[in-house]
Amino acid sequence: MKSPLALKEYTEANRDAWNEVMPRHQQAAKEKWDAAFSQPGFVALRDEELALLKNIGVAGKAVAHLCCNNGIELLSLKNLGAGECVGFDISDLAIQEAQERANRCHIDCRYVRSDVYEIGPEYEHRFDLVYLTAGTLGWLPDLPLFFAKVAALLRENGQVFIYEMHPFSEMLPFDDAEEDVGLRIVAPYFTTEPDVEYGDLDYVGKTAYPSTKPLYWFVHTLSDILMALIENRLSIEHVSEYETDISSVHRRIEQFRAGIPLSFALVGRKGPAWVEGRAPGEPPC
Ligand SMILES: C[S@@+](CC[C@H](N)C(=O)[O-])C[C@H]1O[C@@H](n2cnc3c(N)ncnc32)[C@H](O)[C@@H]1O
Repeated sequence: MKSPLALKEYTEANRDAWNEVMPRHQQAAKEKWDAAFSQPGFVALRDEELALLKNIGVAGKAVAHLCCNNGIELLSLKNLGAGECVGFDISDLAIQEAQERANRCHIDCRYVRSDVYEIGPEYEHRFDLVYLTAGTLGWLPDLPLFFAKVAALLRENGQVFIYEMHPFSEMLPFDDAEEDVGLRIVAPYFTTEPDVEYGDLDYVGKTAYPSTKPLYWFVHTLSDILMALIENRLSIEHVSEYETDISSVHRRIEQFRAGIPLSFALVGRKGPAWVEGRAPGEPPC
């Protein structure tokens, strides 16, 4: 794990930070999503992600969405024909919004407020697909432990689908940087300490707000991510990289169209070599 605080101190601090910003996100976008999902079959996924999901096939599959925020991607997967759909998020307000919208729009998704590291054993071996999207991995202090949880949630042969911000993009200036410095590298790629920020999470409504609540963001390199899957015997079946900003924080960089990787997708599978109870990094047998 990166850095000195205990895992729970980081995740609970991030819970507070997300509960603090959610009313701002809701002010900016809740009505829009309510209206969108009141149309039968509405899907809020990008084309490049949809193409991969169609290859994998979601129809009838039991899906867990980890760090699901307001739940719109899971509603989309349900509208694409997924079977049981359960979303997990640490933020009380995000889960409340997600469940209320699902109920109001009569879309059969269930949302559970939980730290991903503490998802209960009743959910293990239950899912065909674990889905992760834009801005998930950076909240997680310990990636090997997280992917051990992903593997535990999956049935044998189940798949993990990741559509995420590219680790390379962590080095580039965010849209809200005080000065537009163009295409310069402004942060290191290799770093062991989390970024600590205050009140900097309203990438939806784009409002600034003072906060005393620290949030912790962990920069994981591509090799951190791949090794966390490999150590948990999740075999990698597909990786692709895109110039698309899926995070809403690198729109300026995206506009350069300068061949810069801003997002990636990865599909992994839990194979028979996965052994229950094995510590991350320990050989299967
Ligand atoms: C950027 S959002 C997820 C992406 C979503 N598609 C979006 O753009 O809003 C990150 C989510 O991760 C959740 N989160 C952060 N740490 C978590 C943890 N330890 N367990 C569960 N959820 C967590 C936050 O509450 C937040 O809703």
